[in-house]
Amino acid sequence: MEVLIIPDDLPLTAGMLAHAAKQRLSFHTPGHKGRRIALPFIDQALGDLDLTELPGLDDLHHPSGIIAQAQGNYARWAGAKSSYFLVNGATAGIQAALAAALDPGDLVLTPRNAHKSVYAAMVITGAKPVYYLPEIHPEFGLPLGQVPDKVLDKAGALPDLRAIIVLRPTYYGTVWDMSGLRPGWTSGVIIADEAHGAHFPFCSRLPESALTLGADLVVQGTHKTLGALTQGAVLHLGRESSFAGERIERALDLLQTTSPSYLIMASLEGAVWDASTRGEQQWTGLAERAQQLVERLTAGGWRVLTERDVGTYGIAGLDPAKILLHTPASGVRLARDLAESFGIQAELWDNDNILFLLGAGDSADSLEKLERALLRLGAVQPGAARKLFQPSLPVQVLTPRHAYFAPKSEISLTEAAGKICGGTLAPYPPGVPVIVPGEVFSQEIVEYICWSLSQGVYWQGIRQKGDEQILIIKETGA
Ligand SMILES: Cc1ncc(COP(=O)(O)O)c(C=O)c1O
Repeated sequence: MEVLIIPDDLPLTAGMLAHAAKQRLSFHTPGHKGRRIALPFIDQALGDLDLTELPGLDDLHHPSGIIAQAQGNYARWAGAKSSYFLVNGATAGIQAALAAALDPGDLVLTPRNAHKSVYAAMVITGAKPVYYLPEIHPEFGLPLGQVPDKVLDKAGALPDLRAIIVLRPTYYGTVWDMSGLRPGWTSGVIIADEAHGAHFPFCSRLPESALTLGADLVVQGTHKTLGALTQGAVLHLGRESSFAGERIERALDLLQTTSPSYLIMASLEGAVWDASTRGEQQWTGLAERAQQLVERLTAGGWRVLTERDVGTYGIAGLDPAKILLHTPASGVRLARDLAESFGIQAELWDNDNILFLLGAGDSADSLEKLERALLRLGAVQPGAARKLFQPSLPVQVLTPRHAYFAPKSEISLTEAAGKICGGTLAPYPPGVPVIVPGEVFSQEIVEYICWSLSQGVYWQGIRQKGDEQILIIKETGA
């Protein structure tokens, strides 16, 4: 057998090969799980197919040939009016959707637990977010739900609102009931971050996609649960939407690379072809096997998010592609034991929870191995439900765009009351920011953060330098 010798000055390559050599069973993205489902007909050396816009190969920025056909197929199979390939993940789609829908200063109703790409899009567009809070599950301590009326009430109170951003499903595989949103609010654009739901349109056993629930613009991360290569994602225009396609094209032209990867684009058409031909059967099988696993783990004493949680804390349904275990004070140790003793790699973990992700490349066999490992390790006893406290949302005095470009300095957290925040401060979990750039620290927020730190909670956005330091916006005296 040929022995591959890696020169010392290729650390990235060496690191990737070393990880691959561990042959871990993947319960993380990408959804193809190492199987060649997205590039079924591609066996040539990668070099031959790493192409660029040559005659006959069309142009992603002005598609009229094979890319236009592939995008048209995606739209048809997923049930969209039109679909646009993304080669920089769902991130690019979210930024393009907001850039297409919003002008500087426009009001946009935004979930407080939005992905960082939404905050980046606010900086790009100069839009003004008004936030709505998710429901935090008191046992898992995570933002799993959303009460529909809260969103509609907030939208109804904002006559100038231009757009609503919907986060559905959550990273943890929960969906909320957004069916009343389109009938209840008709005056603007609904943008759905469906990064974790690219598989939804392809199986009746899965939650409904925002595409059939009245969203205008829907962003899906095809690489997360379907078979596309990492970074392969798609931005859809809803079938019934009257949103102008040219605005989407202009925004994508602004934000996407002029050298899109043909391998990623080919993997997008391969992934959606695979999903449209065998998705119904495959996801039904996976959903049934996942349900069995969840029941057996529950019987074994584990606290798993299950169908019994539907109807509580704003959760209206579950995506079987996500298995969420509550592991009080043991998540990090368990993730390590699973990796080192059982060769199983989870998607996400913290001290109190572990998340496993199923994708188009999974089979009942991988779930079998996960079940055996978890039952061998033995259940972690559920902890007591926490008392949750979310301080009221702070006053926003600068848009994210103004805050981003304003000069900043570091001060002690204890001196922050009355100052304008320059960073994002979020306890993790749940990861929902308590304050974001451009908002004013109240005394209540400072006291809450100090108390939470004294309880040992980990905070993103706080730097230890003798005492706790945070970023504020420098006062200019103007
Ligand atoms: C909810 C949500 N939206 C958007 C994204 C961005 O997706 P991508 O990594 O494909 O850019 C992520 C990434 O994890 C996410 O969790």
